[in-house]
Amino acid sequence: MEAAEAILKINNIEVKYHEVILVLKGVSIEVPRGGIVALLGANGAGKSTTLKSISGLLNVEDGEVTDGAIEYEGERIHHMGAATIAKKGIVQVIEGRRVFEHLTVEENLKVGAHLRKTGSVKERLDLVYHYFPRLREKRNETAGFVSGGEQQMTVVGRALMTEPKLVLLDEPSMGLAPKLIHEIFNIIQQLHQEQKISILLVEQNAKLALNVAPYAYVMETGRIVMDDTSETLMSNEDIKDFYLGLTDKGGQKSFRDVKHYKRRKRWLA
Ligand SMILES: Nc1ncnc2c1ncn2[C@@H]1O[C@H](COP(=O)(O)OP(=O)(O)OP(=O)(O)O)[C@@H](O)[C@H]1O
Ligand SMILES: [Mg+2]
Repeated sequence: MEAAEAILKINNIEVKYHEVILVLKGVSIEVPRGGIVALLGANGAGKSTTLKSISGLLNVEDGEVTDGAIEYEGERIHHMGAATIAKKGIVQVIEGRRVFEHLTVEENLKVGAHLRKTGSVKERLDLVYHYFPRLREKRNETAGFVSGGEQQMTVVGRALMTEPKLVLLDEPSMGLAPKLIHEIFNIIQQLHQEQKISILLVEQNAKLALNVAPYAYVMETGRIVMDDTSETLMSNEDIKDFYLGLTDKGGQKSFRDVKHYKRRKRWLA
């Protein structure tokens, strides 16, 4: 990651919850300005925790960066509050597509609008509807009742309302049908290219992530165990076996591994 200037530099951070539960044990990640970087890893590896330490949402859960540093645009942000960090142009799309269920789709989008820096709410809404035409169609519907894919579009759209420079996306594909995943990822790539938004993408769907991001990090139990170009990672045997499910080792696996394999299957979607 030497070539491009970094918009985000996570330098060897350690993160604890409730002062005692050590979850991140020396994590370093760089996101180049205008780049997309993927962060892969199994359940509980610490991916969401990494995103929360960037956005400042960690504090809400009694978590803390206890060592190392996070620099955004050259400034240390890891001791700042979530609101301050958001104003600087970082937005996290949290996992599980949490819409405000009783509000309409458009009201959900407007929630993100108070953080924007320029332009009117209307202009920003038009931009979101340009990228997500489906949301324009559904704008007056109650968010709790639109489809899962439309809810995911709503939370990504809400993030876009804040005029972000860096978007932290937590498992946008989770639980969605392949066709919808494809649609959402196309829009994300378009946003990245046309709006020059930098993206840190957390995904369990490794195949998808490695196709979208040119560079990726692999996390296991709170540590980065590998990072390389996606091209190199895609041909790595361990990645192929554990994340892409491309080898036939499944046949020789123990019961425990089979359970893991089942869980992994959704990464292939
Ligand atoms: N608020 C919290 N308090 C205590 N421990 C937590 C808290 N949030 C997460 N953890 C623990 O930190 C570890 C990492 O969790 P995290 O949610 O970051 O993993 P993840 O990689 O995002 O997993 P998943 O793929 O399931 O979303 C887990 O062991 C989890 O139990
Ligand atoms: Mg997570």
